[in-house]
Amino acid sequence: MKGIILAGGSGSRLYPITKIYSKQLTAIYDKPLIYYPLSILMLSGIRDILIISNDETIPFYKQLFNDGKQIGLNIQYAVQDAPNGIAEAFIIGEKFIDNDNVTLILGDNIFYGQLDFIYNAILKNTGATIFGYRVHDPERYGIVEFDKDGNAISIEEKPSKPRSNFAVPGLYIYNHEVVNISKNLKPSARGELEITDVNKEYLRRKELKVQRISRGIAWLDTGTPEALLQAANFFGVIEERQGLKVACIEEIAYTMKFINKQELESLINSIPKSLYRDYLERCIKD
Ligand code: TTP
Repeated sequence: MKGIILAGGSGSRLYPITKIYSKQLTAIYDKPLIYYPLSILMLSGIRDILIISNDETIPFYKQLFNDGKQIGLNIQYAVQDAPNGIAEAFIIGEKFIDNDNVTLILGDNIFYGQLDFIYNAILKNTGATIFGYRVHDPERYGIVEFDKDGNAISIEEKPSKPRSNFAVPGLYIYNHEVVNISKNLKPSARGELEITDVNKEYLRRKELKVQRISRGIAWLDTGTPEALLQAANFFGVIEERQGLKVACIEEIAYTMKFINKQELESLINSIPKSLYRDYLERCIKD
C-alpha cells in the first residue's frame, strides 16, 4: 500500500497565512498541520509516502522530513502546478503508485480517536473505500448514501437536496485502477478533476465501499481561521490532560518499529532543547 498526502491547494480562506506557503505547514497547537495526516498513514503501516504540493512549498516539506529515513519512511515529493483538483494526485503519482493500492489523505484532514476502522479498511480494500461522517450541514460536503452492508448507493458533491447526512472526509483508499480512472476524467464546471467523479466511477463498477465513522471519532476541518483555532485548542486540551502527544511522528515511528531505540536516540540528539524533545526522552524511558 502506498500513501499520498495532497498538501497544496490555494488556501484562500486562510489568507494571508497562506501567502507564502500552503496551509499544511501552519501550526496546530505544537506541530505543523501535516504531521496529523502523516501520522494516520504511519499508524496504518504505510511507509512509502508521496507528498504533493506546489513548487514554493515543497522545499519546506523537504526541510521538515527530508527523505523520511530518520523516521523509517521513504518520502518522495512531487509538484502540482496549480490546484487542478484532488484526483490529479493520481496522475501526478502514477509512477509512484505503480501497481499498488493507494491511500490518499488530504493534508488538512485530521482524525482523532480509536482509528482501527481506518487501518482495517486499508487492509480489506479491494476496489475503493471511502468513509462517511455524520454532519449537520451536508450541503457543504461531498455526500454519500450507503446500505447496511456499506455499499455506496449514491454520491454527490455539495448537493442542494442531500440524500444523506454522511459527508466524505479527505481520506480515500483505492486499487491501482484509480490512475486510469483519473486520467479519463474531464474537468468539472469549476475546472477541477473531482475526487467525487473518481468515486462515481467506482460506484458505477459496483466497487465503492463506505465505512461509517462512529460518533466517538473527531474529524476536524482546518480550512478557516476559526477551524484552525478550534483544532489547536482541541489538541492542546487532550495533550495537556494526558501528558501524551498526538501525531508525534518520531514516537509513532518507534512504536510502529519503523526505527529502533538507538535510531530514536540519535534522532532526539538532533532536536533542540524543547518540550518536544523532553517528551521524546520520556517516551524512550517508558
Ligand atoms: P480545498 O478545501 O478544496 O481548498 P484549499 O485548501 O486550497 O482552501 P480554500 O478553499 O480556502 O482555497 O482543498 C482541500 C485540501 O486539498 C487542501 O489540503 C488542499 C488540497 N488540494 C490540493 O493540494 N490540490 C488541489 O488541486 C485541491 C483541489 C486541493
